[in-house]
Amino acid sequence: MSLLPSTLIRDIARYDGQTVTLAGWVAHKTAKGKLVFIRLRDGSGTIQCVTFKKNVAEDVFASAQSLTLESACRITGAVRADERAPGGYELDVQNIEVVQIAEEYPISPKEHGVEFLMEHRHLWVRSSKQYALLRIRAEVMAAAQEWLNEQGFVRFDSPILTPTAAEGTSNLFSTAYFDLGDAYLAQTGQLYVEAGMTTFGRVYCFGPTFRAEKSKTRRHLTEFWMIEPEVAFADHEDNLVLQEQFVSAIVQRCLERCSDEIVILERDQSVLQRCLPPFPRVTYDEAIELIAQKHTEVEECHPLEWGEDFGAPHEALIALQFDKPVFVEKFPASIKAFYMEPDPVRPELALCADLLAPEGYGEIIGGSQRIHDVTLLEQRIHEHGLNIEDYHWYLDLRRYGSVPHSGFGMGIERLTAWIGGTHHVRETIPFPRMLYRLYP
Ligand code: 4AD
Ligand code: MG
Repeated sequence: MSLLPSTLIRDIARYDGQTVTLAGWVAHKTAKGKLVFIRLRDGSGTIQCVTFKKNVAEDVFASAQSLTLESACRITGAVRADERAPGGYELDVQNIEVVQIAEEYPISPKEHGVEFLMEHRHLWVRSSKQYALLRIRAEVMAAAQEWLNEQGFVRFDSPILTPTAAEGTSNLFSTAYFDLGDAYLAQTGQLYVEAGMTTFGRVYCFGPTFRAEKSKTRRHLTEFWMIEPEVAFADHEDNLVLQEQFVSAIVQRCLERCSDEIVILERDQSVLQRCLPPFPRVTYDEAIELIAQKHTEVEECHPLEWGEDFGAPHEALIALQFDKPVFVEKFPASIKAFYMEPDPVRPELALCADLLAPEGYGEIIGGSQRIHDVTLLEQRIHEHGLNIEDYHWYLDLRRYGSVPHSGFGMGIERLTAWIGGTHHVRETIPFPRMLYRLYP
């Protein structure tokens, strides 16, 4: 005999007037004399289950009374349309099978501090806001992959244990690797998708990436998920067009398929609806100018010298000037990674861009055209103080059929935080890893 429910709450409308069996957890319970109201949550939705003493056997009514918050049960009853009910349907209870009576649940509707909630993350993920954010996360990941697949991209997985740095040497996690010395947890899969690009033309990798970042900001995790497309024969301009199409497609699909979650989160949808190509662009030079003029509009936003990198307040100020995501392009090469193609007109600039989300959510994408000339790439590896021996294989890619190519990396948590309108990325991944958080 199967223990599975006969339907999910999500699909309840199809069963109006019929008897169904649901399985889930008690999200709320109130008893009033001869009535027990159970709000049942099954992961697909919630429904009010009404137990009327007169309609059920004595032991069933006793079961209803015994249920505590988060107890697990299977409830059989008749589906009844009710305009007043949230979701439009209620269940008239006929039978209740108690699966487990929960001990007193530590998370109550009262306010808890965020540290307490983080310590109980394994339970907190059941709460409605967390449920909504994690569902949007799942939709973002599905939408991103499906969109790329439809565009002819092939998923090409990159290793997590790697021999070298790819995105700066200051934030590497290392682990002992048998007789081969240290291995590093991948900061990006980019160098490897550049190899895959010559196999398939258009590829992407998708997986967890790691940065030993000692920053305690609302947008930094030490383990985050990144999707990284890489395209042969694509230049900087092609790269920006691909990015704006990609992000827009994901956002529009979330609006379509996660409308209930967006309501739970009380997210203002207008800014998401406007997220359609083309996106505005400013150059790094223009951004420096803009910051000089308007820095007083944002707290702790100080003017910058040319050649300095932006902090969160600078990104917030730039994004504030637009009602869509905005590209900041052509940063000084000196503050960017070694592999970026220089601007042919002004070689001190890199053909790169960061995509900033509106409303102060910061950078959601970093990308660039890559150096395809072997001599220049060797020179950059030296200039960045990297060990040329480590990059033999990567330089080979420039020796055998090298072509101009471009790609980017999009952080799943950053995009989810913006779509869901939640302040901190720690709520957009099931079990966040941060400077001071490794449990649960
Ligand atoms: O700008 P980043 O460092 O770019 C790269 O790693 C390139 N190799 C990608 C590529 O061209 N294939 O990171 C890309 C994105 C950021 O825009 C951000 O969304 C996310 O990854 N990200 C983080 N998300 C959460 N926590 C962190 N510590 C992050 N660091 C980067
Ligand atoms: Mg970046």
